[in-house]
Amino acid sequence: MTARAVLCVDGPSGSGKGTLARRLAAELGFAYLDSGAIYRALGLRVQRQGLADAQAAQAAAGMELRFGTQDNEVWMGDEPIASQIRTEEAGAAASRLGARPEVREALLQWQRDFAAPRPLVADGRDMGTVVFPHAPCKIFLEASAQVRAQRRHAELLDAGKSANFDQIYRDICARDERDRNRAVAPLRPAEDALVIDSSALSIDQVVDAARQHWQACQGR
Ligand code: DC
Repeated sequence: MTARAVLCVDGPSGSGKGTLARRLAAELGFAYLDSGAIYRALGLRVQRQGLADAQAAQAAAGMELRFGTQDNEVWMGDEPIASQIRTEEAGAAASRLGARPEVREALLQWQRDFAAPRPLVADGRDMGTVVFPHAPCKIFLEASAQVRAQRRHAELLDAGKSANFDQIYRDICARDERDRNRAVAPLRPAEDALVIDSSALSIDQVVDAARQHWQACQGR
């Protein structure tokens, strides 16, 4: 049996991996797995059910999520939840839950089965290291915390929201610290990943580099 074509795009929060992964999925005609949205949605479910973090794994059972092609298209059951899960608080809750081994275990098979057998672009922290370790092509997108905070700050201002740069910078550093240093599935590049530092690159330059890598992976 031929292995499923999976292109992994991992990286820290604000590195631009979501934009990159969506663009690649659209170009290649692949399904797109936004694993961060799964952790964020679980956080919402835990909060709504009034559960403690220690009970989060049980909330994963029966969680029905659907995704559209855009960032704002996520449904839990029939309810659109994008605006509720795309907040800094939801990101921090997802990061906290993501540090729990039983939560990661509860979500593992769900992610592996996502949209199977379609080819997939998988976006997250541990796509290349844990969820799809045998994927034929992996990218790890980096950017300095300073640049990531600047991008987030500009994004919020563009959306007409208030934004405090220092607070955003501190939040990004705290999330990095937790995601990189947790005992299970820490954020790190897979040994066979191409690391792209997007600090000084435009999104088009990043997409070009990623596309070239995908093509090189095809030739292996
Ligand atoms: O990619 P994101 O910012 O939407 O992810 C939110 C949080 O979810 C992230 O800080 C850590 C957690 N997460 C994870 O632990 N593993 C993943 N594969 C994706 C996200």
